[in-house]
Amino acid sequence: MSPTDKPQSHGPALAAAQFEIRDNDLMIGGLAVRGIVADTGTPCFIYDADIMRRAYRSLETALSGFADIYYSVKANPLPAIISLFRQEGAGAEIASVGEYRAAIKAGVAPQDIIFAGPGKGMAELREVIEGGIGEIHIESAEEIARIEEIGRPVKASIRINPVPDAQAGAMRMGGKATAFGFDEEELENVLPLFNDARHIDLVGIHIYGGTQILDADTLASQWRHAISIAARMAQMLDRRLETIDLGGGLGIPYFAGETPLDLETVRAAIPGLKTLLEAHPLIADAHVIVEPGRFLTGAAGIYVAEVNSVKTSRGTTFVVTDGGMHHHLAASGNLGQIVKRNYPIVAPAMMRADHADTATIVGPLCTPLDTLARNAALPKLKAGDLLAILQSGAYGASASPTGFLSHAAAKEVLVEDGTFAVIGR
Ligand SMILES: Cc1ncc(COP(=O)(O)O)c(C=O)c1O
Repeated sequence: MSPTDKPQSHGPALAAAQFEIRDNDLMIGGLAVRGIVADTGTPCFIYDADIMRRAYRSLETALSGFADIYYSVKANPLPAIISLFRQEGAGAEIASVGEYRAAIKAGVAPQDIIFAGPGKGMAELREVIEGGIGEIHIESAEEIARIEEIGRPVKASIRINPVPDAQAGAMRMGGKATAFGFDEEELENVLPLFNDARHIDLVGIHIYGGTQILDADTLASQWRHAISIAARMAQMLDRRLETIDLGGGLGIPYFAGETPLDLETVRAAIPGLKTLLEAHPLIADAHVIVEPGRFLTGAAGIYVAEVNSVKTSRGTTFVVTDGGMHHHLAASGNLGQIVKRNYPIVAPAMMRADHADTATIVGPLCTPLDTLARNAALPKLKAGDLLAILQSGAYGASASPTGFLSHAAAKEVLVEDGTFAVIGR
């Protein structure tokens, strides 16, 4: 049986766990979704500021002073959201000069910004170095040469692609052949590349093992591995390291049967990690960083679309909406998923209705890839009804092919203190 043969219905339970349901309405930050989109129109991403702040604070508590949090801007690059995490005390992890500008606009101090990415160009390196940057995470010999050519002092870490047994995460970016960073086993050949660098102050290491990690033990074991690489690098250099960036990758539950990352287990692993650091005098004082994106914003966002039409083709009910993969590629299963499974989906103005129908939810694009849910258990829908895809606060609008078929961009709205404001396009 394929994962979509059985009607998928995990949306209502997740909605009840994460949001308030009032009568038939899904509420975000005390406001009915129905009321918000009556004002903004659809399709629309709605983000709950409180849920983001709570995610940040719960992680900060679990980390118990062991590591500082840098918000990975790629998860949701709107300046209002970067600014929210800056207010909470976060730095920013960026992957392009566009994200650099967004972070600066959001009020992040240049020294609190770190920059990783496998293809940093000369112009963007120049802009961030001249504008000021906390650290650059170096991923190629060419990047070293470019920074040297710019000729201004800058702190840098080496991005390491860890060996396979340290990998984790559903969408793996480390531990195999990748363009990201330098292979761990090549470390002793990589360090000499910096021998003649006059402008680069090599201060640490950066590891990013993969995204969507839901198992706290896997996360802790990745972090232990990163510390052991840092100790080895410090020994090779025979000097202290200032920075150990453990990466992001903390997951949230999307699909039926998934459970949230257990922060209590993360917290319980911290004393052991501190002991490990302290055991190596050359890294004992290092500044430890984690750089999550998805974990901080993912659960706080929903994507709301309106039903355009309902029809049946050869026994399958298709609900066509005004939203689709051009705004939310991830929900359509086309952003890295191997098996396409449904994101949690609800009818936000019919929360108490019987979920007796099953339907395939599609968008307005002229491709079968534009499918937002397959075999979803939902109330009986008609044109004008609303649908909301949960867990949509990360890798939504900015990770989607927004130009494809030239539909309008989705609105993006932040709810805070009982009111909402359009913060995106
Ligand atoms: C270098 C780096 N850091 C942080 C992140 C954020 O990952 P996540 O949203 O899974 O925490 C990514 C995501 O691709 C990344 O490539």
